Amino acid sequence: MKNFNFYNPVRILFGKGKIAEIGKYIPKDKRIMLTYGGGSIMKNGVYDQVKAALKDRDIVEFGGIEPNPTYETLMKAVQRVKTENVDFLLAVGGGSVLDGTKFIAAAVYYEGDEPWEILSRMRPIRKAMPLASVITLAATGSEMNSGGVITRAETREKLSFGSPLLFPQFSVLDPQVTFSLPKRQVANGIVDAYIHVMEQYLTYPLNTPVQDRFAEGLLLTLIEEGPKAISDTEPDYNNRANLMWAATMALNGQLSLGVDSDWATHMIGHELTAYYGIDHAVTLAIVLPGVMRLLKEKRSEKMLQYAERVWNITEGSTEERIAKAISKTEAFFKSLGMGIRLSDHGVEADVIDRIIERFRMRRMTTVGNPKDINVEEVRTILEDVM
Ligand code: NZQ
Ligand code: ZN
Repeated sequence: MKNFNFYNPVRILFGKGKIAEIGKYIPKDKRIMLTYGGGSIMKNGVYDQVKAALKDRDIVEFGGIEPNPTYETLMKAVQRVKTENVDFLLAVGGGSVLDGTKFIAAAVYYEGDEPWEILSRMRPIRKAMPLASVITLAATGSEMNSGGVITRAETREKLSFGSPLLFPQFSVLDPQVTFSLPKRQVANGIVDAYIHVMEQYLTYPLNTPVQDRFAEGLLLTLIEEGPKAISDTEPDYNNRANLMWAATMALNGQLSLGVDSDWATHMIGHELTAYYGIDHAVTLAIVLPGVMRLLKEKRSEKMLQYAERVWNITEGSTEERIAKAISKTEAFFKSLGMGIRLSDHGVEADVIDRIIERFRMRRMTTVGNPKDINVEEVRTILEDVM
């Protein structure tokens, strides 16, 4: 196991009716900006619950943060924070609203030329406004981590950023608020969480049984609970609670401790969203199987462990077992209603050159952390999933 430092200060308020408690955790003298997306919180009662919990508080609102939040929109929020003397941010929505709010928190105090440099040049964040969240979509883990992903519409770039200053002070996870999600977003959440686990698990063995079994436990939970949420006609509270907690645990930092993490699937997936607007989770469901097939020999030890412990595959040659595990993984994503080939989404082959060229422009020679995928091999991955 590698050395690590672990820090995660996020207070989690989990369960039915927990939105009512948020007033306790935001100091009374704060001028709050409530950030939200395209209006789902108005329709499902979440906005009313937040307003009731914060009655008599000084609140301004900023709506319209889009899925895959854009720099352009967020910079308008930064202006409002400054002109309206806001000093606390409350994100009410999915991962996009929360990621966008993390960016606002950092951009407000940015002292360089323009806050985009936080993403494009990985400029350090020295100060951030306090923020918190009421998360309405179980997927990204953003509610318990300190990172985010922002898109610049003008240039079609999608880049990530992070800082320990950007952990939410608290996050409310009330599974009931996910009842109003369209099935497409429920499926996105299951797959995003699944692939967050895979990015931190399916690399190289480092004798880390605690991390491995946490990861396998989350994968098995998503495989068991996911299909129930997709096929239900009435949402089941415990099912949604288990999915919500699994998504949070999948990316709150604990799985990556002491191991090799990857994130190659995410890096390639972000380009597909940036160019084609494909939902984040769908890009991952497309790319991951291609990554697995490319690395089936290099990463065979972890792949065999995955095959056996997650899919119960114990017979056949190494190659056969790994191939079966990959096809089980693909079948799982498909069973949730996802098109897992680029051609399902109208993507044409020329995108491959554009993505490789972009990675080269960023002076990358490899993709992902174990550095076992060279940039040219991205072609093999994407051709495989065409
Ligand atoms: O905008 P509104 O009207 O709120 O509607 C949203 C949006 O259309 C809707 N929605 C959310 N909660 C709902 C709901 N509809 C009905 N009922 C509810 N309770 O769902 C749509 C998608 O929302 P979005 O926030 O975009 O989805 P998600 O939570 O999957 O977030 C995706 C973003 O997170 C980034 C992705 O790249 C993408 O930009 N990620 C962030 C990560 C992180 N911070 O750690 C890690 C992830 O890998 C991911 O990259
Ligand atoms: Zn993700």
